Amino acid sequence: MFNLAHLSDVHLGPMPDAPLSAYFSKRIIGALSWRFRRRGIHSLDVLNRLVTDIKRHNVDHIAFTGDLVNIALPKEFTRGAQWLSELGGSEFVSFVPGNHDAYVPVDWADGLALWGDYMIGDLRTPGVRTAGNNAALFPYVRQRRNIAMIGVSSGVPAPWNKAWGELGQRQLEALDETLKTLHERGFYRILMIHHPPLRGMAKDRKMLRDADDLKIVLEKRGVELVLHGHNHVHMRSELETKTGLAQIVGVPSASSFAHKGKPAAAWYNYAISRKGGAWSTNVTVRSYDESQKQMVTSAHLAPLGQLCLDCDTQRVQK
Ligand SMILES: [Fe+2]
Ligand SMILES: [Fe+2]
Repeated sequence: MFNLAHLSDVHLGPMPDAPLSAYFSKRIIGALSWRFRRRGIHSLDVLNRLVTDIKRHNVDHIAFTGDLVNIALPKEFTRGAQWLSELGGSEFVSFVPGNHDAYVPVDWADGLALWGDYMIGDLRTPGVRTAGNNAALFPYVRQRRNIAMIGVSSGVPAPWNKAWGELGQRQLEALDETLKTLHERGFYRILMIHHPPLRGMAKDRKMLRDADDLKIVLEKRGVELVLHGHNHVHMRSELETKTGLAQIVGVPSASSFAHKGKPAAAWYNYAISRKGGAWSTNVTVRSYDESQKQMVTSAHLAPLGQLCLDCDTQRVQK
């Protein structure tokens, strides 16, 4: 049994100080959005309770699918690094960037490199990148027993009023090769990506722009589980692939109060095991309950509460 926690969209606050010149960019929009909207939604207290809850469950690993910060200020990257270290060591937490982590162009060395240890693979396989700058880091692969966690980056600076993401041709080609190899080696493949991976899962201005190309890769090579964030809601869909039915699951923000139809913070606890030649994936949803001010197993998400994603199919890796 392998237990994996999935959280996303921390949107760490409060907003740190920055020189005025830092706001001569799209950051001014994000800063205003934080001041008048987001800071009332994302709560450090809720986030702390969620992290405490994850730690209490003694999971084997944590997958974090991006949007650690808000507008990619220098101090957000340093505070983000501190927060990550408190969440867990880099061998215990796997991270992929979101659009807010790439809100404006920032040199790799000054920004995401500060979290780089959480995005470095430990399994060398064809298609996997092992060194270099931001563009060359992804996909990375981490092996934990017979589970392979594949991290891709869809976080790219987008124009004003856009929150879209993109993988790019090089990353897609590498992902194609990586998924193929990992399937041949019999791994349970978990793809971590910030943006919802399929067309129609996010509004046009927030979508993964090369979702159609990713779909071709996923259909051709297969994947067992895709974890994403970005929409700040519970999401679940499936994709028929050549190696079986892929499950695609998104989680709400890890720090949010329920607001305007969006759910309160939640994380998902996956229990993955292999029995009789078939993979079994059970999911427990842990959500913040505002009335009790604590994390609870979500009763209102009964269909997702104890879902056996793959128990009754013979989706066995050939
Ligand atoms: Fe987000
Ligand atoms: Fe996002």
